[in-house]
Amino acid sequence: MTAPHPSAPARAARAAGSVRTVRKAVVPAAGLGTRFLPATKATPKEMLPVVDKPAIQYVVEEAAAAGLDDVLMVTGRHKRAIEDHFDHAAELEQTLAAKGDTVRLDAVRDPSRLASIHHIRQGDPLGLGHAVLCARRHVGDQPFAVLLGDDLIDPRESLLGRMLEVRDRRLGSVVALLEVPPERIHLYGCAAVEPTGEEDVVRVTGLVEKPSRQDAPSRYAVIGRYVLDPAVFGVLERTPPGRGGEIQLTDALQELAAGGTVHGVVFRGLRYDTGDKADYLRTVVRLACERPDLGPEFVAWLRDFVAGLGGTTPLRRNSAA
Ligand code: G1P
Repeated sequence: MTAPHPSAPARAARAAGSVRTVRKAVVPAAGLGTRFLPATKATPKEMLPVVDKPAIQYVVEEAAAAGLDDVLMVTGRHKRAIEDHFDHAAELEQTLAAKGDTVRLDAVRDPSRLASIHHIRQGDPLGLGHAVLCARRHVGDQPFAVLLGDDLIDPRESLLGRMLEVRDRRLGSVVALLEVPPERIHLYGCAAVEPTGEEDVVRVTGLVEKPSRQDAPSRYAVIGRYVLDPAVFGVLERTPPGRGGEIQLTDALQELAAGGTVHGVVFRGLRYDTGDKADYLRTVVRLACERPDLGPEFVAWLRDFVAGLGGTTPLRRNSAA
């Protein structure tokens, strides 16, 4: 565990006397990462670099930016790499300090300054619902956020902040929803919804995990951001294994939705999916293009590269690039 360093927004909120009821974030990071083998043989998929930061750092930065200064990682195998990343690295820091390399020194120190980071092991990988249940003792009887690492939300967006605000007003649990084409709904939890009168907020009346296109109640996919009422723990405890033999968070939320306590925030902003190889590559390219230090040169190269791809022989021209 690293020492607590409340994030700037959390400090500002406290100074203004408006402490949010939600302070803790849970980040499930116990997936096997089989889609990225062999890269994930000895490295957790959450540590794969997106440009020059591991994917999981973007997620913790997002939580910190929303004022959540306590982050619990629910890890599986390879706990060590994630733990080390958010801890101090004394030797490396000394070497960089001795060289006067303050830019890299900050980059090395930043992860440990983001929040108070805690780690717990999931043990058996019994599903997302089970990972969330593992956080029960740490979270206690308070609402909390869950952030999944496969979804990166652009730092310019304020999705999590909006969800926290909706939870503060409406209580219960809040999920993030994204309208997807019907042919992609089977990849997500899907929500049946009713309007609330607020343009981007809906009442969730039902949830189903990864339905077929025919069985999907809507085109609203649940993306990896949740603000959950602690009531979810009691439900998860008695939720039997569902789709894929795993304890599904969606199934527990379905029970809460049937009781009328789940809302959805409809997200229309920038989201990057790092869940499979093609999406991961798209994410890296997009974020690299937007980086002020890399973007201009990289975009120029990319234009040439794409122009040179031509028809069916994509590899001919670029081998020396
Ligand atoms: C999980 C959830 C699913 C949700 C998705 C968002 O699925 O079970 O309901 O829509 O995350 O990314 P996974 O992608 O882990 O299979």
